[in-house]
Amino acid sequence: MPHRSKVVLAYSGGLDTSVSIPWLREKKGADVVALTVNVGQPGDLDAVRAKAEAAGASKAFVVDARQEFAEEFIAPALRANALYEGVYPLSTALARPLIGRHLVEVARREGASYVAHGCTGKGNDQVRFDLSTTSLAPDLEVIAPAREWRMTREEEVAYAESHAIPLATGPKTPYSTDENLWGRSVECGILEDPAVEPPEEVYGWTRSPLDASEQPAYVNLSFERGLPVSLDGHRAPLHELIVQLNRVAGAAGVGRIDHLESRVVGIKSREVYECPAATVLISAHQSLEALTLPRDLLDFKRTVELRYAQLVYDGFWFSPLRNALDAFVTSTQERVTGEVAVKLYKGSARVVGRRSPYSIYQHSLATYSSGDRFRPEMSEGFIYVWGLPARTWAAIGTQPTAASARAGKYRP
Ligand code: ARG
Repeated sequence: MPHRSKVVLAYSGGLDTSVSIPWLREKKGADVVALTVNVGQPGDLDAVRAKAEAAGASKAFVVDARQEFAEEFIAPALRANALYEGVYPLSTALARPLIGRHLVEVARREGASYVAHGCTGKGNDQVRFDLSTTSLAPDLEVIAPAREWRMTREEEVAYAESHAIPLATGPKTPYSTDENLWGRSVECGILEDPAVEPPEEVYGWTRSPLDASEQPAYVNLSFERGLPVSLDGHRAPLHELIVQLNRVAGAAGVGRIDHLESRVVGIKSREVYECPAATVLISAHQSLEALTLPRDLLDFKRTVELRYAQLVYDGFWFSPLRNALDAFVTSTQERVTGEVAVKLYKGSARVVGRRSPYSIYQHSLATYSSGDRFRPEMSEGFIYVWGLPARTWAAIGTQPTAASARAGKYRP
């Protein structure tokens, strides 16, 4: 790359992205602009910005994208009940395209022709950053220093020390974490042995179910068109509802996930997640759909949901397929409005009540007591026709010689 080319680096403040700043300057002769996107991770982001400047960034920006993350990324995923491999609410996977979009925006504003990120060559996040930036701006080139430099952890620390980059303060842990509104992921250390139960110390957002209150807690959620709009009667924007729910459900020990995960790059990995709000909201949303949508739509939507989750995981957020699937999902949500009560108790979140003005549950059809309006005499004819293929199949059997005789005898 030409000397003094501008690079916009997605900067978290961690070791990899901090070392990337002097590395990009020295090895690539780049002018580094650091960009930190607030997606709800903890920590002092002004300090992160200062750290980027101290490490040699010519400019350092922080953008607060929490509302945008909730409304444009989490909301569609929630309406799609998106769970990768049936368990992972895609917290990290959803934040990457958002960060990618901001990288592109800053690159345009600053006249940069490169974007960079701190991902290694073994994970999914490199795929997501590379694909999202290239889908939005095919002319921009992506540099991934940690994929190129081939330093061991120890060499990286030595490089940081020789460039006056302060190492993370606080207690040293063997774990690598990633946090945003939709969840927290933990990997490395003892977690790399999938046979071993995760030790209590890996959890940061959830209380151990053993220590959680003996009293169940109830949350009442109102949904409008497939999205939560209030918690216990208090209306709030989605990103705020998520923050509150993470706290309440996390205190009840809800949202721990132990996932033997299939990465895009072919590696199996063991991931631990804490996703209290996502766990509660997806269950509540599913139960409201069960109340308001017909069986065939629910059934077809499930196949779309699987594909949706995989596509997000795989880094294809900015794709025509995702747009098309979203159009389908959105059209299913018109009547997904109503209230859901969820009981939180020692690690479990169970839907215990639901109501909707669009409920297609009809008491007069379902009841076994008085007020029944169902016409049971209609069932006999229905079952006769419904079972006709099964009867024919059984009567014909597997012996061709006798088949036509039997066909003549059964009651079609
Ligand atoms: N395995 C998860 C995913 O691919 C989480 C990755 C966490 N990323 C990280 N840089 N620690 O979505």
